[in-house]
Amino acid sequence: MLMSYDWDEKIEYLRKTRSLYYNDDYLQFLIDKVWQITKPVNMIDFGCGFGYLGLKLLEMLPKGSSYTGVDKGEKLITEAKKLFSQLPYPSQFICADILEAEIREPYDLALCHAVLLHMEQPKHVLQKMKDCVKPGGKVICFESHWIASMSNQYLQETTQSDVVKLGILQKLFEMDLSRTGKDGNIGIKINKTTFIGGLMERGLTPEEAEQQFEAETKFHHYFREHGLDRYMVYAPSMKITCGTVN
Ligand SMILES: C[S@@+](CC[C@H](N)C(=O)[O-])C[C@H]1O[C@@H](n2cnc3c(N)ncnc32)[C@H](O)[C@@H]1O
Repeated sequence: MLMSYDWDEKIEYLRKTRSLYYNDDYLQFLIDKVWQITKPVNMIDFGCGFGYLGLKLLEMLPKGSSYTGVDKGEKLITEAKKLFSQLPYPSQFICADILEAEIREPYDLALCHAVLLHMEQPKHVLQKMKDCVKPGGKVICFESHWIASMSNQYLQETTQSDVVKLGILQKLFEMDLSRTGKDGNIGIKINKTTFIGGLMERGLTPEEAEQQFEAETKFHHYFREHGLDRYMVYAPSMKITCGTVN
């Protein structure tokens, strides 16, 4: 089946969702402690979109690092060029299909962010990423774990399996809950009693705690009604993996 391509129409969606993905200090921790990048690098971003990852990383990587973005979205590449033209970082963009693009220059880093999960041939893309990296360079993928992401969603006063089907383990936890009252998923739920209890432990009176609960519930409904709740709770469970090419 041929997948339809509509990323060029989703620049706003990409912009809004990306803004909450990572804390800067976490990315800096990855650069310094995990990937241990101490010298300027040249990197290539497969399926770069409007260049989100480059925009984040270039300001944290050693000065002199450069960025190449490849994407088949013409509007996305136009937007990326516009954004990067106002910045001091060396950058270039290639508007092409990542499965077909001929990438000659060897890079220190090949990256992708939320791309492999949308590809019909993810291993092929990974191989291309590997092929364009120098010996000792790195392939770094930021990809979602969709099941983990969905299992993080809970709507108050619903049974999770009515909304998100997760299989036997979910069935087991829900049966345990109705049989014994024990709730293996309590960590993802905001429970009124626990919430109010927590506020009272921090010094509020029962009346103040109740008021605060009502205020936050109101806030929550406001965001729901305005369709903004997904930005407040969105937890895509991104998995960041890195390999060194020998
Ligand atoms: C979910 S978006 C991620 C964009 C960017 N990495 C980010 O996180 O903001 C997926 C991207 O992959 C690109 N893409 C999908 N298939 C592609 C292909 N065959 N060749 C090049 N780019 C592709 C889309 O244009 C889109 O920009």
